[in-house]
Amino acid sequence: MAVPSRRRAGVVVALLAVLLGPAVPASAGPPSPHDGGPTAGEGELLVIGHRGASGYRPEHTLAAYELAARMGADYVECDAVSSADGVLVCRHENEIGGTTDVADHPEFASRRTTKVVDGVSLTGWFTEDFTLEELRTLRAVERLPDVREENTLYDGLYAVPTVEEFLDLRADLSRELRREIGAYVETKHPTYFDSIGLSLEEPLVEELDEAGLDRRRSPVFLQSFETGNLRELDRLVDVPLVQLLSASGAPADLVAAGDPRTYADLSTAAGLAEIGGYADGVGPEKNQVIPRLPDGSLGEPSSFVDDAHAADLLVHPYTFRNENTFLPTDLREGGDPADYGRAIEEQLAFWATGIDGMFTDNPDTGVVSRELAAEVVPAA
Ligand code: G3P
Ligand code: CA
Repeated sequence: MAVPSRRRAGVVVALLAVLLGPAVPASAGPPSPHDGGPTAGEGELLVIGHRGASGYRPEHTLAAYELAARMGADYVECDAVSSADGVLVCRHENEIGGTTDVADHPEFASRRTTKVVDGVSLTGWFTEDFTLEELRTLRAVERLPDVREENTLYDGLYAVPTVEEFLDLRADLSRELRREIGAYVETKHPTYFDSIGLSLEEPLVEELDEAGLDRRRSPVFLQSFETGNLRELDRLVDVPLVQLLSASGAPADLVAAGDPRTYADLSTAAGLAEIGGYADGVGPEKNQVIPRLPDGSLGEPSSFVDDAHAADLLVHPYTFRNENTFLPTDLREGGDPADYGRAIEEQLAFWATGIDGMFTDNPDTGVVSRELAAEVVPAA
């Protein structure tokens, strides 16, 4: 079982000078995105609640989103897929066997099927085969019960939210907490959804419009692992866009079009400069910012952040998590993969690279690491 580490603050502070050297600047990032002037959140270091506070509640539930905001997240992330009747709902993937109790619903047993999504064969239940009314009968369950046993307490309690509900919650919490909680929305598998007549971009833009979140300075980022739909969104809406990248593979839309470019190509200085033509930021896998050494320990920063900033791109790497299993080997504590390791130290090393924000399953930890990073006194 994961146990929060409460005894390391002094150790962490003592390690700051070694890890960081000069203090992390109070503001970061390039002065202006690719067009249209500044965006909300620009010049700030952002803590982004990844799938909500998914370290503490089943992911992509209103409970996870609310907790993220209450823990201090600046933005909360919603991954969006479509129902059969074209309603955007919040799930990390369209296959919902791993994050809902759909397998326990005999009335949906016949919906179990095998599909190829982005070249990968998947067997399970898919959102596009369910109306919103049917999805409403399901309840979320913890994706990682072995690592996050405490989260299983909440299995069966929460519904699959719509993007509209996510945006409504964001507005309510912004009013209550007296600070703007941002919406960080990802379109999942856009080429696949286009292929089945359930395009994601138009309904998403409509939702943003209805929520009054369609302006340049609206507290919104839209993100995608594909490139074509971001270019389309760049024409459809003024809010800032983020190109997601990965340490391996290639964007599904480029693969489908026979374009040989990979994420590695897009992550070069030249690739980032091209992304700067349609996007305002990039979301790299964290290992692209600080690669790990062959033994799994944390290595030295790459040139990624400098290259991205040179292209006027914000840098929001993913995903920071407290448990040993997700940490560099040199920052793990004990042998249990589910126990917490020295996550704050990992995050301090990343803040020191000049990143502009981070996606984390544990927004409270992200807030603490950001505060510590800002407090560091430059070495004499
Ligand atoms: O969107 C940032 C991060 O969430 C990308 O990874 O797979 O968790 O959506 P994933
Ligand atoms: Ca995501």
